[in-house]
Amino acid sequence: ITSIMFCSSSECKGEDKVIQEQGDVIAAEGDTVTLGCTFTSQTTPTLFWYKQEVNAYPKYILRKFLSGATDKAPEFQEDRFDAKINETSAPLKIQKLQLSDSAVYYCALSLTVSE
Ligand SMILES: *[C@@H]1O[C@H](CO)[C@@H](O)[C@H](O)[C@H]1NC(C)=O
Repeated sequence: ITSIMFCSSSECKGEDKVIQEQGDVIAAEGDTVTLGCTFTSQTTPTLFWYKQEVNAYPKYILRKFLSGATDKAPEFQEDRFDAKINETSAPLKIQKLQLSDSAVYYCALSLTVSE
């Protein structure tokens, strides 16, 4: 990985960028939510999702290759977390919400991954 961009509500600079347009998502325990992430990229991107809880560093949840393959952190192996991907979008779906899911979720785009 040579570079990762973090962007929340605004666009990153450059030709490759990710956009998270949603603001706060309010949901109840047990609900399913989908967090949007759209992007434009000149290269074959890999999309990452991170979870940041209050007063903590962002935690890696998963990465999604354009091929559809997924790599997940051990902590998030359960089926509740899943992302889709196509050329423009990589939404993260979280099912059966738990209180511990309350956090800020970041979508990030990796420009070059040798894999
Ligand atoms: C990519 O997926 C999103 C939602 O998952 C959909 O709205 C969009 O039309 C898709 N784009 C392409 C190019 O298939």
